[in-house]
Amino acid sequence: MATKHQKPIGVFDSGIGGLTVVRALLEKLPNENIVYFGDTARVPYGSKSAQVVREYTQDDTDFLLSKDVKMIVVACNTVSAVALDVVQKKANLPVTGVIIPGAEAAIHSTKNSRIGVIGTTGTVNSNAYRNELKRLSQSATVFSKACPLFVPLVEEGWMDYKATELIASEYLFPLTTEKIDTLILGCTHYPLLKKVIARVTKGMVTLIDSGEATAATVGSMLDEHDLRNRSSEQPNVQFFVSDAPEKFTSVGEIFLGKKLGVVRRVTIGK
Ligand code: DGL
Repeated sequence: MATKHQKPIGVFDSGIGGLTVVRALLEKLPNENIVYFGDTARVPYGSKSAQVVREYTQDDTDFLLSKDVKMIVVACNTVSAVALDVVQKKANLPVTGVIIPGAEAAIHSTKNSRIGVIGTTGTVNSNAYRNELKRLSQSATVFSKACPLFVPLVEEGWMDYKATELIASEYLFPLTTEKIDTLILGCTHYPLLKKVIARVTKGMVTLIDSGEATAATVGSMLDEHDLRNRSSEQPNVQFFVSDAPEKFTSVGEIFLGKKLGVVRRVTIGK
């Protein structure tokens, strides 16, 4: 039987995007076993109501709990924004979302306290990043913009296309005219657009990858709860999805930056 240290970290997302967070976790915490769940049958979450996202979150959490995880990382910005409390209530375990780590990293980075936030419609409408930034620093001025076309563009593999650059300029121009010096990439997919976003913001803005910030937080939480895996055995990373494992496997490589192992389909919810 696995010791409490050897138990996996549970990570979930609405679909494939959370693999950017797994990538950051693998880099920062290479000894950890991970169980990932992507709700590919019900993605996207970002355009759905908070109530529906909260219902889906119950099922996602139940699935990870059934895998006997030692902590839960909510990789999805939309879930972190509107349903983190659902996970916290259900799981008697350490839990983190991506909003607080991302907001902390932005406050740490900004020099002029003018911070941009981009994300799905659900994340932006929830004001979760804005509220957290203001809680951390009353002097922060926050400019938010939903960028709903970014998710499908990334899933099409259109990271380096002229059309993507034009759309990015359209979305980001209002933020750059506000003289932001820091921009939170508040969606799992946006780290894959870092190059194009840096181009259209003319390299003048520090880009905050909430996934990377979250991996650092996970490391501190593991230490705080004495859960870090110190075993020298090769760690095990397992992937589960609620639909289309083949597509997840092929597109997932772009997000993870390397080949995925076996991806299994599971049925969750009612
Ligand atoms: N994972 C979602 C997020 O970070 C993006 C995709 C979706 O809309 O479900 O908000």
